[in-house]
Amino acid sequence: MEAVCGKVALITGTTYGIGAAYVKDLFQNGLKACTMSDIDPKGQELADEMNCKYGEGKALFIQADAIQKDALECVFEKNMQTFKGLDIVVNNAGILRDSLWEQTIDLNIKSTIHGSLLGIKYMGKNNGGNGGTVVNTSSILGMQPCFGCPVYTGTKHFVIGFDRSMGSPFFFNLTGVKFLTICPGVTETPMVWDADKWTLQGFPGLGQELAALLQSMPTQTTQPIAEGLRKMLNEGENGSVWVGEDNMFYEVEIPDRKTFKKKIC
Ligand SMILES: NC(=O)c1ccc[n+]([C@@H]2O[C@H](COP(=O)([O-])OP(=O)(O)OC[C@H]3O[C@@H](n4cnc5c(N)ncnc54)[C@H](O)[C@@H]3O)[C@@H](O)[C@H]2O)c1
Repeated sequence: MEAVCGKVALITGTTYGIGAAYVKDLFQNGLKACTMSDIDPKGQELADEMNCKYGEGKALFIQADAIQKDALECVFEKNMQTFKGLDIVVNNAGILRDSLWEQTIDLNIKSTIHGSLLGIKYMGKNNGGNGGTVVNTSSILGMQPCFGCPVYTGTKHFVIGFDRSMGSPFFFNLTGVKFLTICPGVTETPMVWDADKWTLQGFPGLGQELAALLQSMPTQTTQPIAEGLRKMLNEGENGSVWVGEDNMFYEVEIPDRKTFKKKIC
């Protein structure tokens, strides 16, 4: 049976792209209820569609800027008031906009931390909850350098380090909350369509370089990533990191840093 059956999820960034695909796929596979949140109010349309298809009141859309701490906390509070429980948090909202590098850090890093701590606040056994799962969003660029978007790349490296640390027995024994990381490869969403317009300013040609690089990599639709999220929720061990690239989805093993030492001939 699917791990999502009968569960309540809270997902950020659900109006477009990967977040919208998560909502559709999870409902299709037995999710009980979902709090969907996004800065773009058009996300209400998907909530209406889900309510029509799966039953009135199952999807709750809240317009919120995930960067704003109070607004994000309000999303969690409204979820608890409406659904009286929470099992899965997916911190998915993210931007690839190095020209707005402070905003990129605010969303990709700070709101991921905040959303994770709120996940523990509302699901943690240490806070009277039943435990649950937090899925944070990195990227294949969380595991390799990319000169086309160094700030974005740095934020996605952060997510892996944060999740592998939060996904330790110390936190789990206290909270019962698992931490999993999803690392999509290039996926056809609005984020990648205009990535070249948002590169670091002051470096002529960088946008074209990024566009060429993204075009040279294998692409996929959002569906394999949505299916991959379910696979992680079903099988993922605490602290595990998963890649979804070129229509394949698999767990990765990150080598011990002691094996990194450069060999001098
Ligand atoms: N598409 C890819 O190739 C790819 C690859 C690796 C990782 N990712 C990651 O996957 C996640 C989803 O990306 P996507 O490709 O679906 O992007 P997208 O731009 O298509 O969708 C992102 C969603 O987040 C919302 N959003 C943006 N800023 C927000 C804010 N401040 N508060 C709340 N919501 C906000 C947008 O309105 C949108 O609905 C991101 O974290 C991204 O970094 C995407």
